[in-house]
Amino acid sequence: MSILVNEKKQTKEPYLRVEPSSINEENQLLKNSVSYLKAELNKFKELPLLVCEIRRVFKGKAVIRIPNGSYFYVNVSGNLDLSIGDSVLVEQRSLTIVQKLDKLGNFDIEDFIIVERPNTSWQSLGGLNKQIQELKEVIELPLLKPELFEKIGIDPPNGVLLYGPPGTGKTMLAKAVATSTNSTFIEIVASELVQKFIGEGAKLVKDIFRIAREKAPSIIFIDEIDALAADRLDIGTGGEREVQRTFMQLLTEMDGFKSLDNVKVIAATNRIDIIDEAILRPGRFDRLIEISLPDKESRKNILSIHSKSMSLDNIDFSHVAEQTEGMSGADLKAVCTEAGYFALRENRFQISSDDFIKAVSKVSQTDQEDNSFESMFG
Ligand SMILES: Nc1ncnc2c1ncn2[C@@H]1O[C@H](COP(=O)(O)OP(=O)(O)O)[C@@H](O)[C@H]1O
Ligand SMILES: [Mg+2]
Repeated sequence: MSILVNEKKQTKEPYLRVEPSSINEENQLLKNSVSYLKAELNKFKELPLLVCEIRRVFKGKAVIRIPNGSYFYVNVSGNLDLSIGDSVLVEQRSLTIVQKLDKLGNFDIEDFIIVERPNTSWQSLGGLNKQIQELKEVIELPLLKPELFEKIGIDPPNGVLLYGPPGTGKTMLAKAVATSTNSTFIEIVASELVQKFIGEGAKLVKDIFRIAREKAPSIIFIDEIDALAADRLDIGTGGEREVQRTFMQLLTEMDGFKSLDNVKVIAATNRIDIIDEAILRPGRFDRLIEISLPDKESRKNILSIHSKSMSLDNIDFSHVAEQTEGMSGADLKAVCTEAGYFALRENRFQISSDDFIKAVSKVSQTDQEDNSFESMFG
């Protein structure tokens, strides 16, 4: 008994809250405790409910679509007010609809997208001058000065597809446009959308565009769009059909807005080779911007950006840039950090050219290990 009394002081469980000043109270306390634990136990025995979608509604009956894509004609318990497209909870054995789920509320969406107002300036990007110019024309200008386009009578694109190797600044570019236009930045990673939101992907896309309109001006950034828009031959399996449905919803949303709406979509991919051409039609992602690995001049630029706040001992960045052919912006950032570590290990606070050269070979080694790992298992 003393154990229970001790515990009572530490825990906040409701059944332990009463101070037992008499046997009766203590008795009551134990009774509460038993019923609480019984209720907890019952939770473990309960079968999970299926989350399904309403496709047709009849009197007391409905057609539902279960998560694997099959359709069933089932009973509705009680007087639920259902309409097509609602999410409902369905009992597993009888497939009876027992409860209507609130609209995929904000709680779910916010687990899967990142909404922010980024603070990335054009100046924090090294190289990419042509690409920045193009983004300014096709996204920034229409958002800031739509009247210009109306006057001249041309339609700016709804969407832009950035493609090129990883770590070359695609995400940064999208954030920089959002910053310069003071837009809400909504980031989705397509592969996560597909994996984690089975059965709800299409709905989620709809909700994302709704939020974007509410918080306009907005930039919707879809990273790894190849996960959603791969040109696939086999759409036989349930999972693939689901991805297809999500993809179709994306196209529908993009077809639905006028080009001078203040919502723009920027997508990114490392795999332009497998992208379904349907997304490149007019009114969708009708501008393709290639983001390639930086050339020597750009590498020099990126190196100085990332070492701006380091204390440097007369570094010849031209020379470092020459030694880093084939590296991405992300690699060059790693070079700067590694150079800092080489100095740190020798208790120096100034970073020397030698530190940079060592850092280059360290980072290129890591890159090669990554590549051989990929060629073995990728
Ligand atoms: N052109 C660039 N200029 C400056 N930094 C860059 C550049 N490209 C990449 N980086 C660095 O690499 C990181 C990853 O870049 P990111 O934009 O996520 O690449 P991607 O989206 O193309 O994979 C950035 O946070 C930045 O530090
Ligand atoms: Mg990225």
